[in-house]
Amino acid sequence: MKRLAMCVALACVMLQAAAADKKMDAFVSRLMARMTLSEKIGQLNLQPAGDVTTGAAMDTEVGGMVARGELGAVLNLKGKDKIRALQQVAVEKSRLGIPLLVGLDVIHGYHTILPIPLAQACSWDVEGIERGARMAAEEASSDGISWTYSPMVDIALDARWGRIAEGNGEDPYLGSLIAAALVRGYQGDFSDRTHIMACLKHYALYGAVEAGRDYNTVDMSHLRMFNQYFPPYKAAVEAGVGSVMTSFNLVDGQHATANRWLLEDVLRRMWGFGGFIVTDYSSIAEMVRHGFGDLAHNSELALKAGTDMDMCSQGFLKHLEQLVKDGRVSKRLIDQACRRVLEAKYRLGLFDDPYRHCGLSDAEQAKYLFTAEHRQAARDFTAETFVLLRNEGNLLPLSKDCKIALIGPNADTTDGMLGTWCVSRPASDAYPSLRRAMEQAVEGRGKVFFAQGCNIAPYGRMRTAGNSWYIPEVDSEKAHTEAMEAARQADVIVCAMGEGADYSGESHSRTTLSMPETQLSLLRDLAALGKPIVLLNFAGRPTTMEWERHHIPAILNVWFGGTEMGTALCDVLFGDKVPCGRLTVSMPRAVGQEPLYYNHLRTGRPVRDDETRFRNYQSNYFEVSNGPAFPFGFGLSYTQFTYGPMQVKQQGRSVEVTVDVTNSGSRDAYEVVQCYIHDIACRYARPVKELKAFERVFLRAGETKTVHLALSEASLSYYDMQGTLFFEPGEFDIMVGANSRDVQTKRVTVK
Ligand code: BGC
Repeated sequence: MKRLAMCVALACVMLQAAAADKKMDAFVSRLMARMTLSEKIGQLNLQPAGDVTTGAAMDTEVGGMVARGELGAVLNLKGKDKIRALQQVAVEKSRLGIPLLVGLDVIHGYHTILPIPLAQACSWDVEGIERGARMAAEEASSDGISWTYSPMVDIALDARWGRIAEGNGEDPYLGSLIAAALVRGYQGDFSDRTHIMACLKHYALYGAVEAGRDYNTVDMSHLRMFNQYFPPYKAAVEAGVGSVMTSFNLVDGQHATANRWLLEDVLRRMWGFGGFIVTDYSSIAEMVRHGFGDLAHNSELALKAGTDMDMCSQGFLKHLEQLVKDGRVSKRLIDQACRRVLEAKYRLGLFDDPYRHCGLSDAEQAKYLFTAEHRQAARDFTAETFVLLRNEGNLLPLSKDCKIALIGPNADTTDGMLGTWCVSRPASDAYPSLRRAMEQAVEGRGKVFFAQGCNIAPYGRMRTAGNSWYIPEVDSEKAHTEAMEAARQADVIVCAMGEGADYSGESHSRTTLSMPETQLSLLRDLAALGKPIVLLNFAGRPTTMEWERHHIPAILNVWFGGTEMGTALCDVLFGDKVPCGRLTVSMPRAVGQEPLYYNHLRTGRPVRDDETRFRNYQSNYFEVSNGPAFPFGFGLSYTQFTYGPMQVKQQGRSVEVTVDVTNSGSRDAYEVVQCYIHDIACRYARPVKELKAFERVFLRAGETKTVHLALSEASLSYYDMQGTLFFEPGEFDIMVGANSRDVQTKRVTVK
């Protein structure tokens, strides 16, 4: 009976959706019947307005273009009043009054800045991530934004690549859950004014650029694409993402922007994507530099491959009309692209109310932007993203009653806590730095002695970044003396060190993954004092910490946590909250191990991850063992968890794993129970481990919970080179544990 009711409800929803689609079709058809070819081409053109720079600056007079119907969307325009004024030009001055889409990179928050995406993923709190996206959409939509260039779901395995900070790490399963959550968070069902359109990016494989150097070549097997890189994109499409951005790289020797197999066969036909496809910043123009011919030719290739909108190349705008006249491009293709763009605007409700995102008064807007409620939510969530890597002798949490030397270039900066991609942010003094937050946290009890201690990096040694503008340049000797002095007066030393906020992100690739030497040498001197010392490692990527992890008793990997990072750090440092983040990237021992990831294939000459001796004619290195310093899934807590023996139950091709997990320490806390599989023998090589299920469980001190993790036939299957999911009967190792290294295993045969 219940099932019948559900089926009826589902059928009703489907009928309603079909009726809505029909209405939209009719509306768009009527509108398009009135459009000239050049007006249709105008809808396919996206240009920057110049308030924010996210690529080569362009001298475009957007107002005039909008009035002439030459622009369908704009990016990098900021502020609701400015956006409203431009929308008014579109609605009142252009011939047909078609509203603009207004896009911006709202990547991890708008004014209330959340942790960088890589950090968010380390929370493993998929619902929390969805709530964060919802919050970002509420804020951005109150300021005129209708379209965000997020989620970025590129799997990234090479820590040298600065954009690893923007993604969710190395795992396709977790990455897929997060991709879908972000889409839901931004878009909702488009029924509300605060729902904005998401843009899945960068399709596809951008995270696999060779040598971790941004914008570099990508070349990979289809088997790997389908199994390791495509799942998060597919998940976002299944969650209903409204638009997709192509990537800068090649796929099978063709630019992603002009790759018909990628855009039509896989994205649209196999996965059923129904929205519109936009290029990345000036991609069509860059195709010229890749060696694919001139701008006209590349515009033709891109449109024919399925790209609908041209970001910043003006290739469509300048050449499509002539290409039609020359018979090289059919009007049908232009109609198809234009229809997709107009449908997106329709779904967003822009034809009903073009000002729905830019019509709030200042007072109304204040109810959305950087509110106390958003900031509290961000503070709570940020605390979930820190990963405790080491805590010898339970040094953490600290008492608020002690004297703390807070040292390091990241200790007293606000902008420096935000990380990459904060094109919108509150004023620097609108939120506390770690120093200010710590002073408040211990007020009336302890004392904070602050010293910057050193420059973030040796000046002039880094080619551009490295001298982060928000961290003052100091006299090295004097700063060192001050830091040592502060440390001598204190009971405990807390070092806020690591990368600058601008060391990661777009175009910020590195060849070293260690802390800059200015900081490391100070850290060594401080450690030599023999006082308890805590390292807060600020990072936009996995870092190497070979010296630190043997000499610094407590290490908390804190990434870049956003506007509430200072307070969230104090919550964790002083034990008001228990750290619960788990790595979603492998932390290497040495940069030369990159790309390093847990779900790698086997070799014919395998060496154990923890083998310390070099083995000749085997797959290993001279200097370090193969395994990471800290594995995927790893993270400590202020409590301990013990796992009972795992049970495996099989029913047909489904496997259920059950394990009792006990909080055997004294603090209530979250544990992330992880389940991996390994397909023992198959037609195509399979990874040594693959995450297939997990549960984030809250356990009170002393409590035991039975955790059930379900593996379906699909979880035990994999894709062939054509992208068909198939199941191969046989043996599987099923593993359960607290991280990808420390697992218990049971072998099962599934027929
Ligand atoms: C980046 C995209 C971004 C776009 C628009 C490009 O340079 O690769 O991620 O969305 O600029 O700002």
